[in-house]
This record gives sequence, C-alpha cells and structure tokens, in this order.
Amino acid sequence: MDVVIVKNYIEMSKHAAELVGECIRSHEDPVLGLATGGTPIGMYQLLVRQYREGLLSFKNVKTFNLDEYIGLDPAHSKSYHRYMNEHLFSHVDILRDQTFIPNGMASNLQKECRQYEKLLKRVGPPDLQILGIGENGHIGFNEPGSDFDGDTHVIRLADSTREANARYFRSPDEVPTHAITMGVKSILRSKKIVLLASGEKKANAVKRLLDGETDPAFPASALCNHKDVTLIVDNAAMSK
Ligand code: F6R
Repeated sequence: MDVVIVKNYIEMSKHAAELVGECIRSHEDPVLGLATGGTPIGMYQLLVRQYREGLLSFKNVKTFNLDEYIGLDPAHSKSYHRYMNEHLFSHVDILRDQTFIPNGMASNLQKECRQYEKLLKRVGPPDLQILGIGENGHIGFNEPGSDFDGDTHVIRLADSTREANARYFRSPDEVPTHAITMGVKSILRSKKIVLLASGEKKANAVKRLLDGETDPAFPASALCNHKDVTLIVDNAAMSK
C-alpha cells in the first residue's frame, strides 16, 4: 500500500482530485467507483471546479457508487442518490444513464444486489475506486465480520455506524438500519483503489490498517490483499 501523508483535509482533497482527474484523462471510457460521506466532499468540489474551468469532462465517464441506504427514496435529502446529484452529477457533463447507484427502494432487494453486481462486472471493474473508511474499519458498508469473499449484498448497519452517521440526519432514529453495499470482493476487483482518511476520529482505524494484519473483524484490512492501493491520509488521521 502506498501511503501519502498530507497536511490537512484540503491537501487530501486536492491529491485525490488530481488522481481522479488523471484517471479520467488517461482512459477513453473511464469507470469510477465512488464513495459518499463527509470525506470526499472536498474532492468532488475540486472536480466540479476543474470541469467549470474546462480542464475536465465527464462525458465519457461511467460511475458506480459503493452503497445506498435501504428505504430512502432517491429524492430523500439523505439518500446517496441525492448526495451524488448535489455534490457532483448535477454540476458536470456526466450522462445520468451512465451513473449507477444501488436502488435501496427495490421491492426485491436480493434481485437488486444480483443485478448491480452483474452490471458492475459487465461495465466495470472501476479503473479507480474511491473509498472512505469507517471509524470501525468498514469500507463501503462492509461492517466488521463481513465476508472478504462477498459480492453486493444487503447489510445491517452496525450501531456504531448508525451513531457516526446520525450527524447527517435530524435524529439518530432516522438513520436507516440497513443498506445495500458492494461487497469486499466487488471492491477489490477495482484496478486501482484510493482510500481517503481525514481527522482524528479516523486515527485508530488508520493505525490498525497500517499494522497490516488481515482480519475480517476489520474490513479495511482486506485492502492489504490488493496490489494497487494508495492511502491519502492527513496528519490528524495519522496521529496514532
Ligand atoms: C460511503 C461509504 C462509507 C464511508 C465511511 C466514512 O459511501 O461507503 O464507507 O466512506 O462511512 O464516512 P465519512 O466520510 O462520512 O466519515
């Protein structure tokens, strides 16, 4: 794993946006794997800026999101569909039918997972997958104990994840209990992975990741089995 230590959140976002920009410019039909949450927001802002300055086009880009909450309508203010529109898609020239996010409202969730995985295999794998990391070491919503051999599936969110994500909702009770997530195996199929970590709250997770021991109780450790992972981490997240 390559580790790039940067000063702060802004530098992490800049570095990540450069890698995404490079990936888009160097592929004819780039496929990106995308994350939501607080961590990549700065990166998306910089990508939108590059687009507005005429430095980048998303016309040929296809995207796959890691996950979506179950039971939130795409129009819900906290859905990851809405997040992607607000932070990236509605600001750039990407074709909406080239953007894929699991449907957390599907009447048959198992079928939705199978279809998403199939699409991911047919259109993907992503040339570049962006990941954040949960305080408990989750990647996507693969919570501790997840099978490293897992495809896209329904997951019950860990209590600690619901608590950590309560900050995005009006009250903790509003945080959905389940999500659809790409599996660890689906994530590891990506050609290149960029993992972002910023802030003191991620310091324990980063320390455990860099200890290098592979353990399903700490899902991010599966990344040690991939040959092209870059961790971009700021000083605060590196502090332990
Ligand atoms: C989001 C995702 C999650 C987040 C993680 C960190 O699509 O898959 O793994 O990356 O929960 O979230 P933040 O960035 O909000 O700390």
